Amino acid sequence: MKFCVARFARVKWLILALIYLGCSPASEQRNTFKIGFSQCTSYDNWRQSMQEEMYRELSFHDDLELKIKDAGGESSVQIKQIREFLDANVDLLIVSPHEADPITPIVQEAFQRGVPVVLLDRKTNSNFYTSFIGADNFNIGQIAGRYAANCLDGKGAIIEVKGIQSSTPFIDRHQGFQDMISGYPDIKVSGVEGDWGVTRDGEAAFKKLFENGVKYDMVYAHSDFLGFAVYNVLKEMGLENEIEIIGIDGLAGPNGGIQYVYDDILKATILYPTGGDKAIQVASDILHNRPYDKENELTTTVIDSSNVRVMKMQTNKILGHQRDINRMVEKINQQKVVYKSQQYFLYILAFLFVLSALSFAYTLKLLRERRETNKSLNRRNEEILRQRNEVVEMSEKANEAIQAKIDFFSNVSHEFKTPLTLILGHLDELQESNGNKVGKDAGLIRQNAMRLSRLVSQLMDFQKLENNRMILKAGRYDLVAFTTDVVKAFKPLARRGSYQFDFYPSEPELWVWFDRSMLDKVLFNLLSNAFKFTPERGRIKVFLEVESSKNQVHVIVEDNGAGMNADELSRAFERYYRGDETRVDGTGLGLPLSKELIDLHHGNISVTSEKGTGTRFTVSLLLGDEHLTDKEKVSEGQLIDIHEIDYNFQNPDSEPLANPKITLDQTVLIIEDDKDLRQFLSGKLQKHFNVLEAENGEAGIAIAVDQVPDLILCDIKMPKVKGTEVLKKMKSDHRTSHIAFVVMTSDDSLEEKMVAIKQGADDFISKPFNFSLLLERIKTILTNRLKLRDHYVHELPVEQSTKTAPNLDKKFVNDFVSLVEEHIGNPRFDVNEICDQMGMSRIQLYRKVKSMLGYSVADYVTSVRLKKAKFLLVTTDQPVAEIGYAVGFSSPSYFSATFKGRFGLTPKEFQKANQKV
Ligand code: FRU
Repeated sequence: MKFCVARFARVKWLILALIYLGCSPASEQRNTFKIGFSQCTSYDNWRQSMQEEMYRELSFHDDLELKIKDAGGESSVQIKQIREFLDANVDLLIVSPHEADPITPIVQEAFQRGVPVVLLDRKTNSNFYTSFIGADNFNIGQIAGRYAANCLDGKGAIIEVKGIQSSTPFIDRHQGFQDMISGYPDIKVSGVEGDWGVTRDGEAAFKKLFENGVKYDMVYAHSDFLGFAVYNVLKEMGLENEIEIIGIDGLAGPNGGIQYVYDDILKATILYPTGGDKAIQVASDILHNRPYDKENELTTTVIDSSNVRVMKMQTNKILGHQRDINRMVEKINQQKVVYKSQQYFLYILAFLFVLSALSFAYTLKLLRERRETNKSLNRRNEEILRQRNEVVEMSEKANEAIQAKIDFFSNVSHEFKTPLTLILGHLDELQESNGNKVGKDAGLIRQNAMRLSRLVSQLMDFQKLENNRMILKAGRYDLVAFTTDVVKAFKPLARRGSYQFDFYPSEPELWVWFDRSMLDKVLFNLLSNAFKFTPERGRIKVFLEVESSKNQVHVIVEDNGAGMNADELSRAFERYYRGDETRVDGTGLGLPLSKELIDLHHGNISVTSEKGTGTRFTVSLLLGDEHLTDKEKVSEGQLIDIHEIDYNFQNPDSEPLANPKITLDQTVLIIEDDKDLRQFLSGKLQKHFNVLEAENGEAGIAIAVDQVPDLILCDIKMPKVKGTEVLKKMKSDHRTSHIAFVVMTSDDSLEEKMVAIKQGADDFISKPFNFSLLLERIKTILTNRLKLRDHYVHELPVEQSTKTAPNLDKKFVNDFVSLVEEHIGNPRFDVNEICDQMGMSRIQLYRKVKSMLGYSVADYVTSVRLKKAKFLLVTTDQPVAEIGYAVGFSSPSYFSATFKGRFGLTPKEFQKANQKV
């Protein structure tokens, strides 16, 4: 920035210099002096030469401006023109008066007005002028007289041809000549006047002089111009060689006096300089207040045959110089034009420069301002960032706190649910061993344990709702069937209390989008409340009505129980509001939770009630699925009916499924960190299976890999390695992938179950659970597994494919069967080699093959050998012994014995029996 400012300072001086340069000629122009030159006539060469000299001289004076007015030899015109000059306020007047008398007053007036007047060549009759430039004409007359006298040796006749006698030079030239000639008495002078150039008056008068026969020797003409005219007349008269002519002026150039002398037209000429250059010099001195002379006499000399060559040469040279000067002046003038245009260009350039310098300065200013603004913005940004980070940090802390709270709640719930499972489990045992003795008490214990379980679930749901983790997963279900199931679950309760309890659906079936688990909770809540606040033998009705105009379906739960007062009614859905102790359940969570769950459905729940008369809850759901986002819906594929409604009001009446195939051969691994529950389950399951136990996920994985059980019963929530991780590990390892997996959860939310199902769980059971139910599920799974095994056995090795086995198991079976097929002819191919090739231990291979195919490895290999032997015996004509070797038997006798042991016939007998026709 400092650098820029310094540079700008330097630039500023440059700009000022340019402006000065650009402007200075303009200021000089303002001081130009106007000079008016009143010329009596410009008719002849001598005066044109005068004006040229003036202009030449002017080129050295830039501040002088000359204006010439030609009076054309008319004094009246000259007076008028001088006045015009005065009116135009010229700074100085140069006057070459035509006639002295008429011009004198106007010159005097100008002078008295304060306008300097320079008289050139001719004078006025007064002294009122500033300066005079001209030669001494009296002296010129004298010189001419002396020269003529000398030429004539003081004797002869001379004709004096005069210029106009009202003009001072001619008066003086006449008098000077007279003055000199008067000293030569033998010289006679006759005079003629006249305007020789314009009229022929003078010429006529001249010719008349010769009429008397007088012989003239010489002509004294007052100017070379008159002398040349005389020469022409004399030539006409044939006297040009008789009479010599003396002129005045001695002008250089082709029509000048010098040339006339050179050409013998004139005898001599007396130099009379025009004084044009001198007039300008004097005018400049006057105007610039420099010293000047009032009288400026120009020098003169005689030019005749004696010096005419030198003079001609010199004047030619001068003329050459003058031409050079003229050219230079012309060039200078051209340069001036160029300079002028450049000057304008410079002005524009300077203007643009100033403009760009200003905009540069302005840009710098803006830049500085912007930098300042940026700085302050950056500061603000940093501040905002800092605040944002603080907010993020705080929100992270808050999230951590929330997470801790959620974890706490789920841990607590888990902790609650495990002992609840134990309570219920032991209760079953108690009932089994003591029969009806504990019946009523056991019922109460069970009821309260289940109530506690529900409360814990509700609390967990609220936590999820508060943290927006409760996401609607609606599917399209038959609401009539669903409600019927719920109602059915309350039937035993209704029977026990002799309630009139019925369901009135308006349609036989009604397909509605809802989340089963959520609606299940809502209806359960409403029905629980109805039963709770309706005395025995009361009436509880459930209606299902469609309101087409609103595109809605209403599920109505109506009772004729205690009812609510206005205050209770208005706060029925308020969280943690308990109202009358007798009105709502212990926590006050049920109704608010129901409302939240229906809100998630974009539906509505309302209540009407009257104290002592009854209550009516209406749950309204929208028909169709336009109100649901994709995220709120489960796809058809996800519509898994995970488990039937199981409210655990009492022991299931159903008998365990009879399954003869389930034997003590099968091994169940229990992975559960709660020692009591683990031991309880272990004790119960031991009656049906081999049981292995693991107290955490890590130990569970190790045992599973090592022992390869048939089924794993695993708790989902465990410290360090969770149940889902154990599941993932099992399903991704080909040694354990076939093992059935049942998950024990404390949370029956669909979400968690979906995760487990996706990872390959075969089933799950929510705590607290009923042991008999668990046992049934385990048995069902194992039975299905056996069916699957049969499938493999029947299909393989002929087709070598499975349709229902998980990918990893299918691969295992394929690999295993291919291996056996490939080595079928090798008698040394045994279990050890298969273990090496499959990368499994003997026990792992044994268990896996046993589980998948129902054979030991050795039995399976033998069975494949025999099957292939059977095939070869029937389809080929090979000798029996060869077939035995071909399928890997080391000797024909061993082949024959084994074949007979398996099929009751020797290979030969078998071949005979199946002989091709
Ligand atoms: C030209 C001229 C010159 C002469 C001068 C006198 O007009 O006649 O020949 O010397 O004027 O004023």
